[in-house]
Amino acid sequence: MRITVTVDGTAYTDEVEPRLLLVHYLRDRLGKVGTVIGCDTGNCGACTVHLNGHSVKSCSVLAVQADGGDVLTVEGLSRDGKLHPVQQAFRDNHALQCGYCTPGMIMQTLDLLAEEPDPDERTVRLGLEGNLCRCTGYQNIVSAVQDAAQRLRGGGTAETPAGAPKTDTAQGGVR
Ligand code: FES
Ligand code: FES
Repeated sequence: MRITVTVDGTAYTDEVEPRLLLVHYLRDRLGKVGTVIGCDTGNCGACTVHLNGHSVKSCSVLAVQADGGDVLTVEGLSRDGKLHPVQQAFRDNHALQCGYCTPGMIMQTLDLLAEEPDPDERTVRLGLEGNLCRCTGYQNIVSAVQDAAQRLRGGGTAETPAGAPKTDTAQGGVR
């Protein structure tokens, strides 16, 4: 089947098998290897991207389901060489160890903060319950999410200005 999909602001048209998973399309066809595969069974959340403005586990979505859609991956977040405030917050709060879960955590965090811009700890933990960290560094991840929330609400620092990351893929950015 022929699909046309916008990924991180660029439109792609490709022939794909109907059974091809979105995560494999992103990684193997487009080279978007920042989106990783942790389990391939919909459990770990490592493959989380945004499809039409909402987080999805891309190992549980067919590429053909993204036809005509707008995908945002972790690789589409930085702008002009600056990390997105959520990326910067994860870095500043040491919210990663091996980093394998980090792309999915960040994409899910964007979805969570779009729903709840000022989440308490319980809300953060519930919002990230579909994302597993095998290094079990959850406390720093929670701190990073709350720090990111503050930055996005306007409390950013000079190094990490707050604000929407991406306007050229409006459906895929922070809502
Ligand atoms: S690789 Fe998709 S949820 Fe684990
Ligand atoms: S930092 Fe290693 S899996 Fe989360």
